[in-house]
Amino acid sequence: MITNEFWLDRWKTGRIGFHQEGINPKLVEFWPALPKNSRVLVPLCGKSNDMMWLAEQGYEVTGVELSSLAVIQFLGDNDLTYDTHQEGDLKIHTVNGGLSLRIIEGDYFQFSEDNFDACYDRAAMVAMPDSKRAEYVAHTLKRLSPSACVLLISLQYDGDTQGPPFSIEEDSVPLLWGNHIQKIASENLAQTNLQYKEQGHSTFDESVWRIQP
Ligand SMILES: C[S@@+](CC[C@H](N)C(=O)[O-])C[C@H]1O[C@@H](n2cnc3c(N)ncnc32)[C@H](O)[C@@H]1O
Repeated sequence: MITNEFWLDRWKTGRIGFHQEGINPKLVEFWPALPKNSRVLVPLCGKSNDMMWLAEQGYEVTGVELSSLAVIQFLGDNDLTYDTHQEGDLKIHTVNGGLSLRIIEGDYFQFSEDNFDACYDRAAMVAMPDSKRAEYVAHTLKRLSPSACVLLISLQYDGDTQGPPFSIEEDSVPLLWGNHIQKIASENLAQTNLQYKEQGHSTFDESVWRIQP
């Protein structure tokens, strides 16, 4: 079962193969041009450097992450100084200096701010088991303004489908996010990356989806 304890343990034992050192190329290629200071939500953010890229574009970035280790590592790795305060069950870490960046430490389902202008989901929806996926997407959509943009990276693969990351049928993406979402790119990683072939996948499709009002 994928519980909060499962993720805390992954961080404690350093099993964080999902983390990417660089900036995700799909983010750079497909992120829509938004006005400066747009409020961007990054659910289940881990210690993703993609948040640095978004903040450097001039957006107000809010990441939400369960693990204090992930948060400390993100702030430390990027040499960021910050102030912390508590709001209910959540710890809010606000970065000092030029970047507008906050990391909310705690359970995403306790996070209730809304009116975000955009959302970046990489390895977040696919981290949610079947039983929580619809709740995750509904909770995320509630955080967004009616005209918000979404950039989503999803996975669909064959073979051993024990996640995370979980394989998500492409047909179910519009059912979850609404009919406005459109697939804008797709790549079978099993063709370009030996690792997926060795794991027994002949298809490991990584697709980029966008809601752009
Ligand atoms: C697969 S990782 C992806 C991290 C990040 N998006 C990235 O691209 O590297 C999923 C992350 O979600 C966090 N997480 C899982 N359940 C959560 C929850 N209920 N609230 C907040 N964070 C959660 C985990 O600790 C983990 O860091």
